Amino acid sequence: MPASGASGGDATAAFAALRARITRDGPITVAQYMAEVLAHPEHGYYRRGDPLGAGGDFVTAPEISQMFGELLGLWCADAWQRMGAPSPVHLVELGPGRGTLMADALRAARMMPGFRDSLDVHLVEISADLRARQAETLRGADPAWHTDTSTLPDGPLLVIANEFFDALPVRQFERTPDGWCERLVGYDPRADRLAFALTRPASSFAAQVPAALRDAAPGAVVEVCPAAQAIGRDLGARLAEQGGAAIVVDYGYAAPAGRASLQAVRRHARAEVLAQPGSADLTAHVDFGALARALAAGGAATFGPVPQGTLLNALGIAERAAILRRNATPEQAADIDAAYRRLTDADAMGELFRALAATDPTLGTPAGFPERMA
Ligand SMILES: C[S@@+](CC[C@H](N)C(=O)[O-])C[C@H]1O[C@@H](n2cnc3c(N)ncnc32)[C@H](O)[C@@H]1O
Repeated sequence: MPASGASGGDATAAFAALRARITRDGPITVAQYMAEVLAHPEHGYYRRGDPLGAGGDFVTAPEISQMFGELLGLWCADAWQRMGAPSPVHLVELGPGRGTLMADALRAARMMPGFRDSLDVHLVEISADLRARQAETLRGADPAWHTDTSTLPDGPLLVIANEFFDALPVRQFERTPDGWCERLVGYDPRADRLAFALTRPASSFAAQVPAALRDAAPGAVVEVCPAAQAIGRDLGARLAEQGGAAIVVDYGYAAPAGRASLQAVRRHARAEVLAQPGSADLTAHVDFGALARALAAGGAATFGPVPQGTLLNALGIAERAAILRRNATPEQAADIDAAYRRLTDADAMGELFRALAATDPTLGTPAGFPERMA
């Protein structure tokens, strides 16, 4: 029986393919490892099954409470008004999971006259199983699916991405006494297992490291996400040319601190990054500073990042919770309170998760974000 997680890919097939590839071609970068483990068409973690929810590997904000997707839907409604209420407008979600966030956002969209009827829905998703799940959740919304952002249509856009960018492959650079090296994934034939290795130092690796960290002490690690940068530039250019706004929510940092954040999560617990590849989710914290620079390089104006708790409170989560409690049983009211605290408290998701907005530069400051510094 293939070793697999509650969901996700086939760990035995993924390990065999990696072992063959590394034995044939030599060690691969951490980004190549993540790409193969998460997105390989046959055994990739995100190509099979449904990893979300209590029975899966992790729980996301829209699965905790309908309030999350509703408030992001209202954020889009506000942006749409600032855009001059164009019709049609493309509502795009990157990595929509079960479609829960989109369903909640579309329900909330009805609160703004004319908005829901102007929307057509686009989902960027690589998982066939999750696409099927999204089709079920969003029956009636008639979504169009895309494998990446390159096929998104022309015309004004509203883009939502929750816990999407953390799934994109990162390269890891490590400072040694002799200079900056790249971390690789190799194969140890004696132990029959994958193992980390380092390249020789090179100035091309040092050039990838932000100037503030270039002289960091040996042991420092910097992660760079080429896919996030490419998507950021593409989205930034689309927002500037086509008009619109994007909101990205994820765990991450404003500037790198010199520590690795790559982690594996299986059944709600930390797992080893190289053990049973394909049976655990692999994620890295999002470098919001780098993502904002990529969006700006494409031509968009950026706002934040702000803590998730700050954003949700500014968008009215307390008021929404109070409305939901009015018709709730005591048990349901307790669930609403618990979800509110989990999404906003600093020691839960409120501080670790952050939100970044990007807009067509003519749009002004989006709801829930502070004015830009000059
Ligand atoms: C952590 S889940 C988040 C799901 C959803 N946004 C939520 O908050 O519940 C990541 C989502 O991104 C999708 N995904 C992962 N890598 C992707 C890629 N390279 N391109 C498109 N979708 C991807 C996954 O299949 C999944 O739908």
